[in-house]
Amino acid sequence: MPIDSPAIRWLDDHLLLLDQRHLPLRTEWLAIHDAAGAAGAIRDMAVRGAPAIGITAAYGLALEALGLGRRASLETLRPALETLAASRPTAVNLFWALERLQRLGADLEGEALGRRLAREAESIHQDDQAANLRLGELGAALLPHDARVYTHCNTGALATGGHGTALGIIRSAWRGGHLREVIAGETRPWLQGARLTTWELMQENIPVTLVADSAAGMLMAAGRVDAVVVGADRIAANGDTANKIGTYGLAVLARHHGLPFIVAAPDSTLDPAMTDGGGIVIEERAADEVRRVGGQPLAPEQCPVYNPAFDVTPAALITAIVTESGVVHSPDAASVAEHLSRLNRR
Ligand code: MRU
Repeated sequence: MPIDSPAIRWLDDHLLLLDQRHLPLRTEWLAIHDAAGAAGAIRDMAVRGAPAIGITAAYGLALEALGLGRRASLETLRPALETLAASRPTAVNLFWALERLQRLGADLEGEALGRRLAREAESIHQDDQAANLRLGELGAALLPHDARVYTHCNTGALATGGHGTALGIIRSAWRGGHLREVIAGETRPWLQGARLTTWELMQENIPVTLVADSAAGMLMAAGRVDAVVVGADRIAANGDTANKIGTYGLAVLARHHGLPFIVAAPDSTLDPAMTDGGGIVIEERAADEVRRVGGQPLAPEQCPVYNPAFDVTPAALITAIVTESGVVHSPDAASVAEHLSRLNRR
């Protein structure tokens, strides 16, 4: 069955990525032919969002194997694996996808390996979409009726194999008739909320109001938010969650105002090997992403900058983690272990 994915298209001998750096102003597709191209697209944010990064890395490795033809083996693919693994450090989905492909390729070589990796990349892509549809339903059931939901960054079809995680919950709630409004934080410095989340929601006529990130506390204090729903890049074994910078502040605000704070992610975002959030590598990106907006200087050229792309929200601030296989309420080491044991992934 062809995969109906708005941002990632597999064409058997190359990959097309909707270049998210230009949205919503221009729709441009980027053609990817090998692992280096896939790694570059991930590093430079043409494709972003934890599940989409994992899917792209899987296709990138498959393309490399197909290009190697009869010479393909896990040994000859080693440099490609290293290039892909070095593209971005925080989202575990990237490493999860590469490991899944390596496990599968262990007994294969040559053209058969390339074909098998391509099939597996398609499965990862398709499975992610199915996971989002399922977790969307599970998460929508947690929202109050007629909810006004605050969300951060972009966790929609652009960031995944389709439908979305936090935005998948929002989409499902809208289709189910119990969502009143989405409030999208703009998400400095890359503006995924302003550029991508609004674009996705407006295409489906889902009511969305864009706010500056700094408006979140005022809106909650004014009683204009019923729940906060966000995605995740890596969830540690105790439920601590790395996500887009600013998420931690939203969780603190939600707790102060007595609002549910819901994390949505596929099971592939769980990292059982990471005991707690303290060990998660937080990507630091270039200074000019903060000094400039849309290429235009904003701050003095030499101004020192600190630009962490993610932060970690302690599990104690999270009301529930929603995945395709269930809801972990009040996550902690015991409840996450119980969830993982049902998946055979402890
Ligand atoms: O830097 P980005 O845009 O890749 O960060 C994206 C996020 O933090 C998302 O919330 C997360 O990856 C989940 S996407 C379904």
